[in-house]
Amino acid sequence: MSINKKTIEDIDVKNKKVLVRCDFNVPQDDDGNITDDKRIVESLKTIKYLIDNNAKIILCSHLGRPKGEFNEKYSLKPIAKRLSELLNIKVKMATDVIGENAKKLVSELNDGEVMLLENVRFHKEEEENDLIFAKELANFAEIYVNDAFGTAHRAHASTAGVANYLPAVAGYLIEKEIDILGGVLDNPQRPFVAILGGKKVSDKIGVIENLINKADSIIIGGGMAYTFFKAQGFEIGKSICEEDRLELAKELLEKANSKNVKILLPVDIVCTNEISENGNAITVEANNIPADFIGVDIGEKTIEVFAHELEKAKTIMWNGPMGVFEIDKFAKGTNAIARVLANLDAITIIGGGDSASAIEKCGLADKMTHISTGGGASLEYIEGKVLPGIECLNNK
Ligand code: 3PG
Repeated sequence: MSINKKTIEDIDVKNKKVLVRCDFNVPQDDDGNITDDKRIVESLKTIKYLIDNNAKIILCSHLGRPKGEFNEKYSLKPIAKRLSELLNIKVKMATDVIGENAKKLVSELNDGEVMLLENVRFHKEEEENDLIFAKELANFAEIYVNDAFGTAHRAHASTAGVANYLPAVAGYLIEKEIDILGGVLDNPQRPFVAILGGKKVSDKIGVIENLINKADSIIIGGGMAYTFFKAQGFEIGKSICEEDRLELAKELLEKANSKNVKILLPVDIVCTNEISENGNAITVEANNIPADFIGVDIGEKTIEVFAHELEKAKTIMWNGPMGVFEIDKFAKGTNAIARVLANLDAITIIGGGDSASAIEKCGLADKMTHISTGGGASLEYIEGKVLPGIECLNNK
């Protein structure tokens, strides 16, 4: 599906002041070092296009959740440094967002130069989508480009409000994400198999419901599988379960059945008495988890069953790990599924968040067709929800 919104190529950016919203919300270690710069790297195409067109580029983003006040821990300084390295030009860093320093740097900006405002969430008005704050941001520029796909599900001042005051277009990253995710949802090459994991059914209800109308089969692993097991009367020991979603889990299984969509649940489970590297891990049949044990991964037989289904697929969309993959001992199922995908010819689309980190951790990222930069945003998009950061842009 191609985006029905104007993009950066539909507007004359030459020598213009352009405000670009990126999602530079990247993981950092305790010393503030960036541990995964994918979101920064993915923003480069838009920024380079603007540089090549001699625009004056004012970048903005959030980082973490600083709750509306300045907090050095969430400063975008490390981002400016990394961007400077990647672009091979100095990215000027403002010490504030809409204050005197930002205004001064904007006024001094030359054609083809790039600057970065401080974390927009240092102002509580950002998340409130306060229009006075949005207008202050808009006053810096003549054009607004939203390229923050990862934050497109938030209706905030810098992701949506600002579009009230400026011509507003999509950057290359948003365009790419919508082309790929939308293309798969609207017109997948079949068979189309979705893999869903993660802890909670409640986080994925909308996704499952929408995918029942689109996919040929849905593989369910991870913590959410236990709610489906319990709904079928299985003994799940101390495994994670959402008691208030048992009925819903049953309904989803029935709905899939009535639409001829195959649902595959694990047939065997790795379970443990303790969720730590020291836990005693055993593999059992899925309907036979011992009373004191907690399900933490899919077993070998399940990997085979899932792999068999995946080998038939032409399109695969994966969202959510198969187990507690943060602990190496319980990451085997998630890693095995990543390896299966890496060896297939199919189109492989990875929703952001945990499944993306698992694939990065296995070193298999370059074997996938697309890894989304959106966690929550890609989930909401797959659910079929309107994303405010895209909705606010000018129509073609
Ligand atoms: C993300 O990492 O999902 C986005 O950057 C959005 O962040 P948020 O959940 O804090 O709004």
